Amino acid sequence: MRILVLGGGGREHAIVKALARSPQSPELFCAPGNPGIAIDATCLPELDPCDVEAVVEAARAHRIDLVVVGPEAPLVAGVVDGLTAAGMAAFGPSRSAAQLEGSKAFAKEAMAEAQIPTAGYKVLRSRDEALEEISRTTYPTVLKADGLAAGKGVLICLNEAEARDAAEIFFTEQRFGRTEVVLEEFLEGEELSLLALCDGERAVPLAPAQDYKRIGDGDTGPNTGGMGSYSPVATVSSDELAELSALVHQPIVDLMKRRGTPFHGVLYAGLMMTPNGPKVLEYNTRFGDPETQAVLPRLESDLVDLFMKATVPGGLIDSEVRFSDRWAVTVVLASAGYPASSSSGDVITGLEAAAGSAEVVHAGTAEANGAIVTAGGRVLNLTGLGPDPATARDLAYKAAGAVDFDGSQMRTDIAERAVLNAGLDASSAGSPRQ
Ligand code: AMP
Ligand code: GLY
Repeated sequence: MRILVLGGGGREHAIVKALARSPQSPELFCAPGNPGIAIDATCLPELDPCDVEAVVEAARAHRIDLVVVGPEAPLVAGVVDGLTAAGMAAFGPSRSAAQLEGSKAFAKEAMAEAQIPTAGYKVLRSRDEALEEISRTTYPTVLKADGLAAGKGVLICLNEAEARDAAEIFFTEQRFGRTEVVLEEFLEGEELSLLALCDGERAVPLAPAQDYKRIGDGDTGPNTGGMGSYSPVATVSSDELAELSALVHQPIVDLMKRRGTPFHGVLYAGLMMTPNGPKVLEYNTRFGDPETQAVLPRLESDLVDLFMKATVPGGLIDSEVRFSDRWAVTVVLASAGYPASSSSGDVITGLEAAAGSAEVVHAGTAEANGAIVTAGGRVLNLTGLGPDPATARDLAYKAAGAVDFDGSQMRTDIAERAVLNAGLDASSAGSPRQ
């Protein structure tokens, strides 16, 4: 079995590691990959995952049996459509189904049709329309760019003045390109990332995870792609998990099937657990980053088998997705300037020592003159595993403490809540580094 994974970040490294554990011992390729991924897979650094023709050609040339798509951009570019048309198996949704992530307005309309609980909203198509709506709405309110924005296109506005500024950012400055904007009711509660494997007909939930979106401790500062995660989330029992998935995943899978654009791949529901029940904040049509780094190390089922079955209509019907009882905590190390900018080329030390306590996942790294250097905003992910959240957290932070590069930043409160909820001591881990 020969598998090509598209992407080159922490999520793809975690996917490659999970595939490498399969009893089928697949031969793994990754495009473009990164120096960490290169340990388990043959990297194809020249192959652009968004160049559909080039991906189809590379898959043929390397006699690939299955292509697994990591990031959203190749999905929206139609890479799964191209591979399917060429008669190859690809794990991920078609371009039409990936609109659930590619367009917030599309997702909102789908949720309304499938009667899925979500925040009240309005689509704004011009600056004038935005200014009128802004003067009428209640605060706080949320404004979101319609298209893909790497987790940064959401502005939470506390008052009308902030919302006016946001309208200028979206419509005048066009920081997120020419886009429609969704104005959304502000929701309060705990966030939860709930992912499901989908085979076009059925959604099979994976273990729940919690993600940390803001750059600073205590959920302060701007939104990022994600600064840490943990799994499981003790507040969600396995019965509740099935109920939640029936509420937020299955109706979307049913809807997409009815529309003739069946959903295959991973459907990621970003939920807010409000006092009035769970509500969907967003859908992503791929694995979460860094949720995957905490979820997949706990997977006991064969991921190769699950991915293959998900490409076939109804293929997951008898599949069971088993997770270990272990906890996983993932701490992200980011480079100086992230999320506004990022810094590259800083030499990273301590990776071997870190591997003694945690899984070391490469997110934004490169090789230069025989050294591993930073190459992006989120640089490394360290996943500690243990029988309880405190142990997993200690191991992740121990590994984080062993790694060093100029300007490194991390949050020190990842999974603190999970430890406190478990009644254990969270004080020892995660003290800020110098
Ligand atoms: P999204 O890309 O839509 O998931 O938004 C990114 C983040 O912004 C979410 O994870 C939330 O933390 C926050 N957010 C988005 N929509 C809302 C909302 N309606 N109410 C409160 N916070 C929100
Ligand atoms: N961790 C958030 C995301 O993957 O979109």
